[in-house]
Amino acid sequence: MKGVILAGGLGKRLWPLTKITNKHLLPVFDKPMIYYPIECLVNAGIRDVLLVTGGNDAGDFLRLLGNGKEFGLKELHYTYQVGEGGIADALRLAEDFADGDKIVVVLGDNIIERDIRRGVANFYSQPRGARIFLKEVPDPERFGVAVLEDGRVTRIVEKPEVPESAYAVVGIYMYDEQVFDFISSLKPSARGELEITDVNNFYLEQGTLEYEILEGWWTDAGTFESLLKAANLTAGGGANHTRPMAAAVPAAV
Ligand code: DAU
Repeated sequence: MKGVILAGGLGKRLWPLTKITNKHLLPVFDKPMIYYPIECLVNAGIRDVLLVTGGNDAGDFLRLLGNGKEFGLKELHYTYQVGEGGIADALRLAEDFADGDKIVVVLGDNIIERDIRRGVANFYSQPRGARIFLKEVPDPERFGVAVLEDGRVTRIVEKPEVPESAYAVVGIYMYDEQVFDFISSLKPSARGELEITDVNNFYLEQGTLEYEILEGWWTDAGTFESLLKAANLTAGGGANHTRPMAAAVPAAV
C-alpha cells in the first residue's frame, strides 16, 4: 500500500500567514504542519509516499523533508499541483505513482492523536472499494458529513448548512485503483473544485464504501481557530507526537 499527502491549495483562509509561505510549512506547536500527515502514514507502516504540493515556496518542502529518510520513509516522491482545483484534482496527480496499488490519502492539514493502523489493516483485507474515517464533532457543517442509517453510510454531503448528523468525514481516505476513473468523470462543484466528497459518493453508489470511527482526537488546521486548536492539542501530547519518529516506525504493510 502506498501513501499520498495532499498539500496543494493556496491556504487562503489563513491569509496573510500564507502570503509568503505554504500553509503546510506553518508551525503547529513544535513542528511544521506537514510533519503530522507524514507521521500518520509512517505510523501506519506506509513507507512509500508521494507529496502533492503547490502554491508558494514548493521548493521549501524539498529543503525541509529531503528524501524522507529522517522520517523512516523508503521513498519520498514529489509533484506539483497548479492552482487550487480541489482535493480530487490534487489526488489525480498520484495516478502514475499509485500504479494500480491501493492508496492511503492524508490531507496535509489533518492531524490525529492516535494512529490508523487498524483501519489500514482492514482496508488491506477489503477486496475492493474505499474506506473512510468518521468522527463525531460539534461543528459538522465545516466538513463533509456522513448521513447514517442503521449503521450504514447512505450519503455524504459537503459542508451542509443543516447537517443531518454529527459525523464528519476525516481527511484520511483509502482507495483502490478505481479512484482515478472516478476522478476523471468529476465536474467542478459550485466552489469550482473537484470534490473528494463526490469521489466518496461514487464508491457509496457502487456499494463499496466502508468506514471506521476514528479513535482519539482529530483536527484540521486550515483556519485560524483550528490552527490554534491543533497547536493546543499537540502541545497536550498525542500518542504519535511525543515519541521520536524513528522509534515509532512499525513494519511496512
Ligand atoms: O479536513 C477534512 C475535510 O477536508 C473534509 O471533511 C471535507 O470533506 C473536505 O472537502 C476537506 O474540507 P476543506 O474545505 O476544509 O479542505 P481544504 O480546502 O482546506 O483542503 C484541505 C487540504 O487538502 C489542504 O490542506 C491541502 C489539500 N488540497 C486542497 C485543495 C483545495 C490540495 O492539495 N489541493 C487543493 O486544490
